[in-house]
Amino acid sequence: MIVLGIESSCDETAAALVNDKKEILGEALLSQEEHKKFGGVVPEIAARSHLEHIDTILEECFAKTNLTLNDVDAIAASAGPGLIGGVVVGVMTAKALAISLNKPFVAVNHLEGHALSSRISNDVEFPYLLLLVSGGHCQILVVKDVDDYERLGTTIDDAVGEAFDKVAKMLQLGYPGGPIVEKMASIGDENRFSLPRPLLGSQDCNLSFSGLKTAVRKIVETYSPDGDISHAYIPKQDIADICASFQYAATDCLCRKLKKAITYFKQNYPAGKHIVVSGGVASNTYLRSKLQQLADNNGLDFAAPPIRFCTDNGVMVAWAGLERFKKGYTSSLDFKPRPRWPLDTHAPKAAGAGGVKA
Ligand code: KG4
Ligand code: ZN
Repeated sequence: MIVLGIESSCDETAAALVNDKKEILGEALLSQEEHKKFGGVVPEIAARSHLEHIDTILEECFAKTNLTLNDVDAIAASAGPGLIGGVVVGVMTAKALAISLNKPFVAVNHLEGHALSSRISNDVEFPYLLLLVSGGHCQILVVKDVDDYERLGTTIDDAVGEAFDKVAKMLQLGYPGGPIVEKMASIGDENRFSLPRPLLGSQDCNLSFSGLKTAVRKIVETYSPDGDISHAYIPKQDIADICASFQYAATDCLCRKLKKAITYFKQNYPAGKHIVVSGGVASNTYLRSKLQQLADNNGLDFAAPPIRFCTDNGVMVAWAGLERFKKGYTSSLDFKPRPRWPLDTHAPKAAGAGGVKA
């Protein structure tokens, strides 16, 4: 069984071919550089760029294989949540291929792509506890099965990746912020600045990062002669110390809420063995090492996708598409892309497809 997956929900145009033996048969990815000068993704530019590059990306994906479109059993695309202009490009491309080849179309929730991505390279069985941390989302979930999630907590304001990006912007480190903040943090002192841990006292598993971001802004302001952060001059070591202190605080918030979630998970899902992290922020090696410790201390195994499959890519969409297709969860051709699509709601399925109907 071979599935083609298309990703275009944010600023990566990507495609991949995977089979049910967990082999990645072909893969192509373009990270849009156009947004760098704006310090964040510009939706209109992103949509145009997806449209311009999607055909070439598909050609590139197949060019590295000896496969043709006829060898594919189903065509999957990220159908939301995301920037709607980009999502439409991927979904329309997938639907057009599905119609012309007379093959099934599978609408994939982008978050399900991240959620299942660990299962390609690791032996992770359902149910597992998932920390999903990306530029747009920050959630703690139990993955009970394909299309079956229990959400234990979510951010009430910024996503953690967004906080990394905003801190990088304040420090004029460029976009995307995560990788450069992590790099600077590696030479910084994480105890130099004391930063808040918002929502720590709450009994639930919800998170908040906007107070943490504001606290960093207040520190940056002290380096500016007139309080305007764009006039701040910050010595390199101080930048590194701010990054390290921020990364420590953000990771600490995630780990402490995850600790609460572990207690719930163990009580309610005694068969569960894994803590999994996924999404762009999961490429952060500091976070990965803290999660490994947390898992060790709680008698669970830790799993994460290889670093290159943490940020958006076609493989995760193809894989989630394959897992859905195997269960009979195909989508109808009038499936409407969804700018918002919580993971703990069931996706509409094509008539006759297995599973629960929304
Ligand atoms: O999953 P992703 O590629 O796109 C979304 O679905 O949002 O995640 C992108 C996010 C960005 O906010 C980026 O700064 C963050 O992941 N990120 C990181 C690292 N690499 C990417 N955050 C922290 N440390 C990293 N090494
Ligand atoms: Zn993503």
